[in-house]
Amino acid sequence: MNVQAEHTADATTAEESLALQAEQAKFDSKAATDLAMQNTLLTPRFYTTDFDELDAIDVSPVREDWDALIAQMVADPNKGHFRKNEDWDHIDWEGMDPALKKEFIDFLISSCTAEFSGCVLYKEMKRRGSNSDITQLFQLMARDEARHAGFINDALREAGVAVNLGFLTQKKKYTYFRPKFIYYATYLSEKIGYARYITIFRHLEAHPEHRFHPIFKWFREWCNDEFSHGEAFALLMKTDPKLTSGRNIWWIKFFLTAVYATMYVRDHQRPAFHAALGVDPDWYAHEVFTKTSALSTQIFPITLDIEHPRWAAGLKKLQRANADLAAAKEGRGPGALLRRLGAQARAASAFVGLYFIPAKRHKVPASPRLEPVY
Ligand SMILES: [Fe+2]
Ligand SMILES: [Fe+2]
Repeated sequence: MNVQAEHTADATTAEESLALQAEQAKFDSKAATDLAMQNTLLTPRFYTTDFDELDAIDVSPVREDWDALIAQMVADPNKGHFRKNEDWDHIDWEGMDPALKKEFIDFLISSCTAEFSGCVLYKEMKRRGSNSDITQLFQLMARDEARHAGFINDALREAGVAVNLGFLTQKKKYTYFRPKFIYYATYLSEKIGYARYITIFRHLEAHPEHRFHPIFKWFREWCNDEFSHGEAFALLMKTDPKLTSGRNIWWIKFFLTAVYATMYVRDHQRPAFHAALGVDPDWYAHEVFTKTSALSTQIFPITLDIEHPRWAAGLKKLQRANADLAAAKEGRGPGALLRRLGAQARAASAFVGLYFIPAKRHKVPASPRLEPVY
């Protein structure tokens, strides 16, 4: 008999999760899906890559660490975790401050899209591949991301909105990245995801009065999944030393700068959300960058110098240019066009300024394996 899970938390494959999501899609709302469909520099994208190249990776050089990581993921400690239970407090969505409600829903939609973006990419790799090490890893990661996205969608549904994930899979634009760019970008997004979730979780552990929604209680187990996914990409990169040496270090620096800067600008667009959490977005960004940098020394030979005086100043400049750009996009006529071009040029120059701050170099350990300690 084929026993089907009734909730995405219990689904053991991404396919099963998606079938459950399709069942619920009749309740999904157009506005949320439209937001998730957006492709700007700041919104989560869907990716595609050269799946044959990925499938050809031989993990023998990292076999011992690989088998240990896969065994841990197969054991599936978080099966059943991502569902509402008695810890799920009632939320008064109607009574919530409208600015907070808007930003929080925006945060949930953006997080759901990002989780789902991982699911779609990992599931596709599993479907196309024939290398059993690679397909097993990607099926396990797709399973986790499908649960994460499903759980966020549960939270959104209570507010009367939800993202139609089946529609997104078919209609959202896919951005092509060469496999090595997928490794850098995905490794970093998994590790920064871990750092973001654990920083909020620890902050709210100390200040429970700021926990304005129950979903934050789930963040510890959640971030452990992201941690494992990051470990997997570190091992994949470790199989080929060229990926983290020579000219590729300039690419690594580019992705570090882009991922950190995007997070900074995106978070600063949500002042009410951070105020409700009792978190200063500058402090939060610095905390998350510090943790992500410490973790990324496991595989990358450089870290960004986030203590450099030009770092904080550059981020602020980028953030202001971005806010002006958003305002100029609302306007019409030649004045608005000029303001838009000016803001774009300022954003580009701020980014270049951040990129050329000298990075810190260090020696990378022989084995990348880490345990979550924050
Ligand atoms: Fe996830
Ligand atoms: Fe992940």
